[in-house]
Amino acid sequence: MGQTALPIVPQISDDLLEKYALQIMKKQEEDTPLQRVLHEIEKIAEDESVPIIGALEGKILASIISMRQPAAQNVLDIGTAIGYSAIWLARVTGRAGHVTSIEIDPLRAERAREFVRRAGVEDQVEIITGDVFEVLPQQNKKYDVIFQDVMKHVYFAKDPHLALKLLDISVNHLANGGILLTDNAFCQGKVLEDSEYNQVKGIQAYNEAVSTHPQLDSLLFPFRDGLWYSRHRE
Ligand SMILES: C[S@@+](CC[C@H](N)C(=O)[O-])C[C@H]1O[C@@H](n2cnc3c(N)ncnc32)[C@H](O)[C@@H]1O
Repeated sequence: MGQTALPIVPQISDDLLEKYALQIMKKQEEDTPLQRVLHEIEKIAEDESVPIIGALEGKILASIISMRQPAAQNVLDIGTAIGYSAIWLARVTGRAGHVTSIEIDPLRAERAREFVRRAGVEDQVEIITGDVFEVLPQQNKKYDVIFQDVMKHVYFAKDPHLALKLLDISVNHLANGGILLTDNAFCQGKVLEDSEYNQVKGIQAYNEAVSTHPQLDSLLFPFRDGLWYSRHRE
């Protein structure tokens, strides 16, 4: 079976300690327009089954990126959906930063632009409607951080090699010392066994390739659906 929609990873897992972590961190939240828009997207994503990273992974990405020295300025978000991760990335890079976000679905891209505007980060975020395999090779730009969140998508069921192709073009667009973050490395546990699904085969191949990549130092966080942190060797 090549082509299928794999189940969505819930924003909040059933793990009681994850819930506790989220609850305790809520106490840090400030009531800003950006934060309100993030909550609004969380609710919409829940109601409409739009796959987004959720608050805990948003905070983890932001913390990893904020530790980078020098501060990340050019950030690429692959797979915008309705703008949730792009807003988190814009929040952490601040006014000096720039987030480029690519989304293949024009309706999602349009909704994302509206949320980005309402969150007050429209000057920092550019949403490109298009296929990452067409958009990225046309760019000469290098990025300090790339967040790759498309691998589990139905589109990848066409060909298990697409995941490896995406790794190649991502590494080609990563600055020296840059960070590549990849979501869904576990594919909800499906990576543990041989699979008939092309997406799972693709993710297994991607994981092997990241782990042995000569230009990357990588750590696979066993958190949520598996999050790769890979640093481009200088
Ligand atoms: C998991 S969602 C991204 C969620 C987003 N990162 C967030 O947390 O807010 C993946 C998105 O990637 C898009 N997508 C899938 N294949 C793509 C491709 N080849 N190029 C660009 N976007 C793609 C899908 O339409 C979907 O909206």
